[in-house]
Amino acid sequence: MDHAPLQVLIDRETLHQRVAQLAGQVAADYPDSPPLMVGVLNGAVHFMMELLACLPEAFAAGVEYDFVGVSSYSGGESQGQVRLTKDVGADLGGREVLIVDGIVDTGLTVDFLLARFRDRNPRSLKVCALLDKPARRRHPVPVHYRGFAIEDVFVVGYGMDYDQRYRALNYIGVLGQPI
Ligand code: IMP
Ligand code: MG
Repeated sequence: MDHAPLQVLIDRETLHQRVAQLAGQVAADYPDSPPLMVGVLNGAVHFMMELLACLPEAFAAGVEYDFVGVSSYSGGESQGQVRLTKDVGADLGGREVLIVDGIVDTGLTVDFLLARFRDRNPRSLKVCALLDKPARRRHPVPVHYRGFAIEDVFVVGYGMDYDQRYRALNYIGVLGQPI
């Protein structure tokens, strides 16, 4: 099947090395109580699985994970509205919660999730994002663990999509003009 040309922005090995570093930081920061990691569907799936796989075994054994579904985009442009399409199953009360997202763009999605989750009285609530586009931020949100800051370009792969395609690529690329 034809697809538009892709320029590699972050290759497989670079992703792996950075994710391994983040896993080390997460393990070091929650020495006594491994967090409940909440991945944001669908974009965080690749990142989350690699992050989990890179955790030290003793730490990983105590980690729980779940996913939330949100919808805020159709195609490439933000609609400015976020809707929860799947909630977490666990009670967040008193838990150390770590939101894991693929990319923080305007910040709308993470802002929405932080507000929703804060209401449930977690013991702590932090954000881990593979990619961050600070130039696009409209809603200031904390990003406690950040893989890469990138320019204002539309990226695909490693969970990131354009109209639901390209997610399954195992690197981050920039879409060229369709041919
Ligand atoms: P935000 O709510 O504006 O921060 O946008 C977050 C969501 O927009 C992400 O979880 C992605 O689903 C999507 N998004 C933002 N930028 C990109 C991109 O460059 N490529 C693919 N999806 C993106
Ligand atoms: Mg998308």
